[in-house]
Amino acid sequence: PVIYFVTPTYPRREQIPELTRLAHTLLHVPRIHWLVANDYERCDTYMDMLLNRFGIPFTHLSSPMPHKFRSTKPAPRGVANRRAALQWIRQHNLTNGVLYFGDDDNTYDLRLFSEIRQTQRVSMFPVGLIADYAVSGPVVRDGKVVAFLDSWVAGRRWPVDMAGFAVNLAYMSLYPNVNMPYKPGYEEDLFLRSIGLHIDQIEPRGMNCTEVLVWHTQTKSKKAPIVRLEKKFLDGRSNLGAL
Ligand code: UGA
Ligand code: MN
Repeated sequence: PVIYFVTPTYPRREQIPELTRLAHTLLHVPRIHWLVANDYERCDTYMDMLLNRFGIPFTHLSSPMPHKFRSTKPAPRGVANRRAALQWIRQHNLTNGVLYFGDDDNTYDLRLFSEIRQTQRVSMFPVGLIADYAVSGPVVRDGKVVAFLDSWVAGRRWPVDMAGFAVNLAYMSLYPNVNMPYKPGYEEDLFLRSIGLHIDQIEPRGMNCTEVLVWHTQTKSKKAPIVRLEKKFLDGRSNLGAL
């Protein structure tokens, strides 16, 4: 089966390096289709050229966050993107393959891909570097998922991270109301609730969820506007030292 790797991404100055690093992981993975959903109002040529150059089979989607959510705090990050990918999968009637939500800034061990490829319904596994406990993932007893360890359970039935599960498309197609609502913090839970999952059906991966094969890494961002640097030059206070 093909892995449909859904990557929400958005324009900021770390975007190209993040996508380059991720592409260089995905280049090692056979039978993958990369769904790159950009939080931007059009599919720009520069992004197309970049994605083409990597040589990974891909689809570039334009999936801007609806304007009304931009100012809400916290904003629903990556939700418009994942919804667009779900819609694309539905439109193309894809029922053969495995869906995985892989953010542009996470770190993926190549073994993750062979672990998720055989997903029959929904597979789950731990994610490293999540909040206070530094790991979030299923608790497994006798080969079955029996509970979850997560720093922020918050009444969720499925207290897991977006990167901690994969879904078989044939299974997902049985649930026409599959959805990911714009509800920050509850995206995973409500998505998994929308595909009628039962705890007994979960397939634990990564040596019965004892191995971490994906990390929620975050790139330190700096939001200094370029205009400030220009202003320094205009003011004659250049950063070039003793030149
Ligand atoms: C955590 C989870 O790991 C995400 O899966 C979840 O979507 C997110 O929280 C959330 O719901 O807020 P986190 O590292 O905090 O992720 O968030 P980001 O990595 O900044 O954003 C998640 C994804 O959405 C990324 O792929 C990012 O490129 C994308 N994004 C972020 C947008 O498309 N638009 C934005 O304005 C911000
Ligand atoms: Mn992230």
